[in-house]
Amino acid sequence: MKRRNFIKNASITGIGLTISTSVLNCKDHNPEKNHNTAMAPINTTPIVVATWDVKESTQKAWEVIQNGGTALDAVEQGCMVEEANEKGQTVGKGGLPDRDGNVTLDACIMDKDGNCGSVVYLQNITHAVSVARKVMEETPHVMLAGEGAQQFAISQGFERENLLTDASKKAWENWKINSEYKPIINIENHDTIGMLAIDKNGDISGACTTSGLAYKMAGRVGDSPIIGSGLFVDNEIGGCVATGLGEEVMKTVGSFLVVELMRQGKTPQQACEEAISRIVTKPNSDYKNFQVGYIAVNKKGETGSYAIHQHFSMTKYQDGVNETIQSDYIIKT
Ligand code: GLY
Repeated sequence: MKRRNFIKNASITGIGLTISTSVLNCKDHNPEKNHNTAMAPINTTPIVVATWDVKESTQKAWEVIQNGGTALDAVEQGCMVEEANEKGQTVGKGGLPDRDGNVTLDACIMDKDGNCGSVVYLQNITHAVSVARKVMEETPHVMLAGEGAQQFAISQGFERENLLTDASKKAWENWKINSEYKPIINIENHDTIGMLAIDKNGDISGACTTSGLAYKMAGRVGDSPIIGSGLFVDNEIGGCVATGLGEEVMKTVGSFLVVELMRQGKTPQQACEEAISRIVTKPNSDYKNFQVGYIAVNKKGETGSYAIHQHFSMTKYQDGVNETIQSDYIIKT
């Protein structure tokens, strides 16, 4: 049975100056040794990159950095812009629901020290990325799910809200009566919002947030809250975030793979291309019928992005310029 049929049939219910910063590139992972080892300086200037055309989000993140904030503050506040945007139907408030009509959010965040937090199947809380940060900073855990995540969020002062907007409810009702609907290849040219930033200290953080695959099975969780799949940051090397069909990203631990490829010497662009290649060259890959895209940044502030299908884009704020760049791809759609 085709995957989408299974899903349906199984339903039961700034502007500013960039400041050059000298940072250290430590390739030696022994902290004691690093303490005494001469390290090569790299000049890194601040940068923010995000999946898709989300210039208001990158603008916000850039302003945070220009005002002296950390990359961690920047990616959280940048993602919050899209989470609050009710017109965006793939993230936060207004996100499309699962097949039973429930909006469930996944998000994660990772800082320069390798700390991370995530939430899965979070309901009734708009700013999933901020709850993920609270998990990272206020609990001994990395991931909280479902009702527990919601209760934790409320205990931290987040307010319960109905996330299902009239527009998303209508789209869901149309989906239920239209058996021809095919929800896969980024029809809206918009999907998971993933963001990476380098701050004035040259430190890297990343975050991603999503309402997941539209009309998914109840309980389904994608790549976005899974550290290593939807997001990975190594402050010595760089970071990567993914968008698209999470199942395919998880099967290849995509974001971790991209960072490890950069560690081996690939540019961010080469690493993204290799990670996409791992998906499409798998035996019997159905890649013509789904989208996956990656964006990456390395410690030098070089970026890359690549996708299976046309129309994936990356928004980049660097040197005072906020622009959306169409990514290279395999298939012209
Ligand atoms: N990449 C988002 C998801 O598959 O849930």
